[in-house]
Amino acid sequence: MSPNGLKDVQALIRMNDLYEKLLDKIDIGVHVINEQGKTIIYNQKMMEIESMASEDVIDKDLLDVFMFADNQNSTLVEALKTGKTKKHKKQTYFNNKGKEITTINDTFPIVKDGEITEAIEIVKDVTQLEQVIKENMLRKQNTKFTFDKIIGQSGLIQTVIEESKRATRTSSSVLIVGETGTGKELFAQSIHNGSSRSSAPFISQNCAAIPDNLMESLLFGTKKGAFTGAIDRPGLFEQADGGTLLLDEINSLNPSLQAKLLRVIQDKTIRKVGDTQDKKVDVRIIATINEDPIDAVANKRLRKDLYYRLSVVTLFIPPLRERKEDLWFLTQSFIEKYNALFQMSVKGISEGVNHLLNQHDWPGNVRELEHTIEGAMNMIMDKETITVENLPVRFRKRYQKNDELVPQNDFADIAGINHSSKTLCDKVAEVEKFYIKQILTENSNNISQAAKILGISRQSLQYRLKKYNL
Ligand SMILES: Nc1ncnc2c1ncn2[C@@H]1O[C@H](COP(=O)(O)OP(=O)(O)OP(=O)(O)O)[C@@H](O)[C@H]1O
Ligand SMILES: [Mg+2]
Repeated sequence: MSPNGLKDVQALIRMNDLYEKLLDKIDIGVHVINEQGKTIIYNQKMMEIESMASEDVIDKDLLDVFMFADNQNSTLVEALKTGKTKKHKKQTYFNNKGKEITTINDTFPIVKDGEITEAIEIVKDVTQLEQVIKENMLRKQNTKFTFDKIIGQSGLIQTVIEESKRATRTSSSVLIVGETGTGKELFAQSIHNGSSRSSAPFISQNCAAIPDNLMESLLFGTKKGAFTGAIDRPGLFEQADGGTLLLDEINSLNPSLQAKLLRVIQDKTIRKVGDTQDKKVDVRIIATINEDPIDAVANKRLRKDLYYRLSVVTLFIPPLRERKEDLWFLTQSFIEKYNALFQMSVKGISEGVNHLLNQHDWPGNVRELEHTIEGAMNMIMDKETITVENLPVRFRKRYQKNDELVPQNDFADIAGINHSSKTLCDKVAEVEKFYIKQILTENSNNISQAAKILGISRQSLQYRLKKYNL
């Protein structure tokens, strides 16, 4: 080879290297198959999207590696067969471990001398967004709560009901403040169903449940576009048009989205992700927060400007421990509810149970009471009255210190001196894990409730669950 020829080959190799590096650095999946349908290029992002190793895909027939549902063909194989370019096509399929993947693809055939030689696909992952939307669809039922179903005779709860009823006459934003299980969702639905918006949708979304990067698409929707790789999709605002959007745990919404939300409330327009135009929407916002909003503002979990806007109407739902006169009515209504569900005919609770329920301070509020009654009715056999033995162990343990029903102090076993050679750190971790497990079990794995009892944030509880593999 002449020196010039060698230089050319070296330059080609160098370019090839560069292209390969480039392919692995970009944040978009690239998948190329040859005319036999075998993969010849499969970049890093593609591996991430499909959770596959390159050696499981490269040189393999694409249809051997991935499974497509009956009514869906592989967009790549399709391009090879038809020679047609397809843009923004959504595709759902499964990898060889059965993992479902949803992508938006741009697919191009490569034609040389009139023959199709390869097909190239540019891929954007929307699996997570797709799942969130599916879950939302499933949760849409059960939005029928009205004020007459809110139980409670206490002055405190009656005042909140009165204030909430007044809020049905307008479309102002509402902020509902209350601990977990106090009935925030119940009030939000009752306001919606009592308002002129009742025939339009009521949609609720928990802001803590969705990763930041998906929340904007979920709230405002996406616009079909080359840069975002997205398809046209309405967000929750459009879906709730004419109705009410409940944003739960607003203090968990990322601050930049809080700013966008404020703009939507003020301008009554939304802008989809990837769009350049605004669209009018008519949605009433009800937000909930499970901590003091002033604290949330001070700790930068709630933007001050959004707080002022949301709190045009603020409803404080008192915790159950501050309105114990409601206990009896609530208990009775849950007994009726579960009588109907379980085909039972329980009439009420014993004096002892009444006493214990009154002593408890209900950190999980009405939800905790409902679970307690439901649990007791599962234990009861052919009796008309719920008695102390039907209550969960924790009740008996906590309030009947000298009762023979009280189980041994579980801590003694692990925190006690069992002469192991463990360090203090190991011991503390062991106790922590044990206690978290116990509180979670006692609270039917309800994270918010357990965190509250443990006196730590949901986030730190979640961190510990991961750490201890619980
Ligand atoms: N006053 C009430 N009357 C009847 N049922 C109630 C009342 N308050 C709450 N409940 C019941 O308690 C449960 C919890 O209520 P809800 O989901 O509205 O609480 P929440 O404040 O939204 O809790 P979280 O902060 O955990 O989301 C529901 O099953 C609800 O029906
Ligand atoms: Mg709720």
